[in-house]
Amino acid sequence: MIIEPVIQGVVARAAHPYGCEQSILQQIEYVKSAKSIKAGPKRVLIIGASSGFGLAARIALTFGGAEADTIGVSFERGPSEKGTGSAGWYNNHYFQKYAEREGRVAANIQGDAFSAEIKEEVVEAIETYFEGEVDLIIYSVAAGVRPNPQTGDMWRSAIKPIGQSYSGAMIQLEDDSWHQQTLSAASDEEIEATLKVMGGEDWESWVDTLINSESIAPGCQTIAFSYMGSEVTHPIYLDGTLGRAKIDLHQTSHSLNLKLANFDGGAYATVCKALVTKASVFIPGLMPYLISLYKVMKEKGTHESCIEQMQRLFSDKLYGQTPVPVDAERLLRMDDWELNIDTQERVQALMAKLGKDNFKQLGDYQGVKQAFLNLNGFGFEQIDYSQSVDIDNFRK
Ligand code: NAI
Repeated sequence: MIIEPVIQGVVARAAHPYGCEQSILQQIEYVKSAKSIKAGPKRVLIIGASSGFGLAARIALTFGGAEADTIGVSFERGPSEKGTGSAGWYNNHYFQKYAEREGRVAANIQGDAFSAEIKEEVVEAIETYFEGEVDLIIYSVAAGVRPNPQTGDMWRSAIKPIGQSYSGAMIQLEDDSWHQQTLSAASDEEIEATLKVMGGEDWESWVDTLINSESIAPGCQTIAFSYMGSEVTHPIYLDGTLGRAKIDLHQTSHSLNLKLANFDGGAYATVCKALVTKASVFIPGLMPYLISLYKVMKEKGTHESCIEQMQRLFSDKLYGQTPVPVDAERLLRMDDWELNIDTQERVQALMAKLGKDNFKQLGDYQGVKQAFLNLNGFGFEQIDYSQSVDIDNFRK
């Protein structure tokens, strides 16, 4: 079949396998030429490994100097009669192909990370592939729902402000249009459900499972990703439901740090930069900030994507300094360049000028849209998109 981009709202409904391969290859090429990760971990579990930060972390640790073996957990859709499957499916396929070519273990486990069954499967995989112990656990799940293990009902996250409504602009990637929207304040149930889905509870449950199964190696570290942003994004992020969940994640990092201290290890909530990923384009109100941030950081030469963020995290910070450099709240900050004062002043000045008639000219909308297309395997000049692809080859 010929595969073309299909975007509904901000969701990609098609993915191109060869474009996903291209994306993996470009990330591998980058980390091989970047500052190397010295004294990195050898046996790494990544929960949420198929796209965004989790995939970039997996590529950085495998090809960027540490030569790690990895087990990756993700929830992706393969090709079927209904469609091409998700980009993450192809990312897993090609990551594994290139990692194995270099002699690395790259085990992919597909299923719901929140479930006890998948946790059990991972414990078994750690036995099989890692001689029973893991050196680093990366929690990079971005999900909209989580089943309540007691009742089987779903907790559904709601990305909303808390206390008061918020009015701002959103941009539809589907037709490149700008809309004003108002988000109502979250109810208590929505705040609680978002915390259950995106807070620290499942991260803690993973680490507890691995402690109980004696799968933690001496010196084992764990990290999970957070976002804080600047005052422009606070109403929709930090002061909203997602921010509440991230604060819970930060608190979880402290309790996990105590637990892993018993193994001479540690736990860090790692605050990253705002980036275009499958998950972040979903956040209402974030897009005007993203196109302004991309514009300013590219002009200043400080722009990073997931792969640059992850390579810098491991080479400069988590495995680059002892003790691990953290801020006063014991957070590992990878948003340092985003929050640079001059960057933020320029972003705010730019955002104040943006509107429906000029956002494509003033902001880096092209760059953001290109990044979104690339995430799904589109927009690569190396790929001839007029050629038919046999997606049956990717069904396994
Ligand atoms: P993403 O959508 O690119 O990746 C999410 C991953 O989670 C995928 O591998 C997906 O398969 C997996 N996943 C989702 N539901 C799952 C489930 N039920 N079971 C197993 N795997 C599941 O998202 P992104 O943006 O890389 O997000 C990862 C983390 O980084 C999140 O905690 C997010 O809040 C955080 N973050 C993201 C930023 C951004 O701007 N994109 C900035 C700072 C932090």
